[in-house]
Amino acid sequence: ITFGNYSVEGNSLCLQGRKLSDMAREYGTPLYVYDEDYIRDNARRFKNSFERGKNIVTYAGKAFLTLEICRIMNQEGLSLDVVSSGELYTAFKAGFPMERVLFHGNNKTREEIELGVELGIGRFVADNFRELSLIDEISRSKGRVSSVILRITPGIDAHTHDYIKTGMIDSKFGFSIVEKQYIEAAKMAMQLENIDLKGIHCHIGSQIFDLDPFYDAGGVMLGLYKEIMDETGAKLEELDLGGGFGCYYIDGDNPLEIEEYVETILKSAAENAARLGIKEPRLIIEPGRSMVNNSCVTLYTVGAIKEIPGVKKYVAVDGGMADNIRPALYQAQYDAVLADRVDDEKVETVAIAGKSCESGDILINEIKMPLIEEDEILAVLYTGAYGYSMASNYNLIRKPAVVFVSKEGVKVAVRRQTYDDMLREQV
Ligand code: LLP
Repeated sequence: ITFGNYSVEGNSLCLQGRKLSDMAREYGTPLYVYDEDYIRDNARRFKNSFERGKNIVTYAGKAFLTLEICRIMNQEGLSLDVVSSGELYTAFKAGFPMERVLFHGNNKTREEIELGVELGIGRFVADNFRELSLIDEISRSKGRVSSVILRITPGIDAHTHDYIKTGMIDSKFGFSIVEKQYIEAAKMAMQLENIDLKGIHCHIGSQIFDLDPFYDAGGVMLGLYKEIMDETGAKLEELDLGGGFGCYYIDGDNPLEIEEYVETILKSAAENAARLGIKEPRLIIEPGRSMVNNSCVTLYTVGAIKEIPGVKKYVAVDGGMADNIRPALYQAQYDAVLADRVDDEKVETVAIAGKSCESGDILINEIKMPLIEEDEILAVLYTGAYGYSMASNYNLIRKPAVVFVSKEGVKVAVRRQTYDDMLREQV
């Protein structure tokens, strides 16, 4: 456990010197425990290496959004990418400055666009022609001019290791490069009086461990940026290259440092702008996972331990796919330790099973562990991104609490759902 302010003391996993097993007792399990100082540290590293008085780091809230994380990102001076009116409303309630909000999504509803215009958000990222009309129409009706960035699908599909340049042609997101739809979109945006066209955007994928796709995306997008200006007379000034920086989950993952991703993007922009003979745009990036993933562990209490002789041993915990859908949905792999026996010898291979009524609810398929006992606290590591944010009430399992740990102490950012919370909408 080599991230942030986690440490092993005695044989116990600690955060800021506090035992995680004590937190499990105090706040109950399952429990998401976040290292707040580590998140702040990531935010500063992104900001310091990337912004240089000009560029913008926009945290992609879909990875993990609560009121408290909005406050933290605001204090750190970051911008925020929201993808729904729910995320937008959360940011608003947290007092996040609306001019630093960027609104994404491939099918923003009229109601969502209205809320964005009313609250005066900084940027809409327009995904399609209907959105351009809606943003214009709604902005006019409210006497506003909205700043817009066009999302383009540049045909760079970055998978974790290989990437295929035309792979994303069939994406549901953005304006296509097929028949140069992005030119048509830019022309339309230029004609609409209540839209101020600022720039273009792409997002090439998530959990990317290579630098090349980012470098190439910079080159392709700057080419489109220049082409749009030449063909339509638009005066663009911003290029948003999305997120996607990879994170460590299990042995064998080799993510790069934040600064390496950032340097590649800055270098690509500088070199390609020079090649094309244009002024470098203001750059925007939208890191989600890399901002929060490795700051968090999820604590569970071990329940039933079941051995199918000669076949498999299941260790069941009191959470699972309801608080972490990623293994079931993406075959995502995680590591885990016993919170109070981190360094005990690993003597057997087990499966860590969740408690939902699905055979597929297995958090970890195969992991070498010490002989686990009932009622021990198990920590699944690096669960900070797309865990809580994708949590559900499947089987009417209550959503866990979220605590933030910093030098100052432990604070509850989200209290555990109650039965009545779950029934609140029901008639
Ligand atoms: N910007 C845009 C436009 C995006 O679509 C995304 C992620 C991001 C930024 C942030 O990407 P990140 O830095 O987190 O890779 N639920 C999946 C990941 C979905 C990512 C969707 N878009 C998972 O759990 O792996």
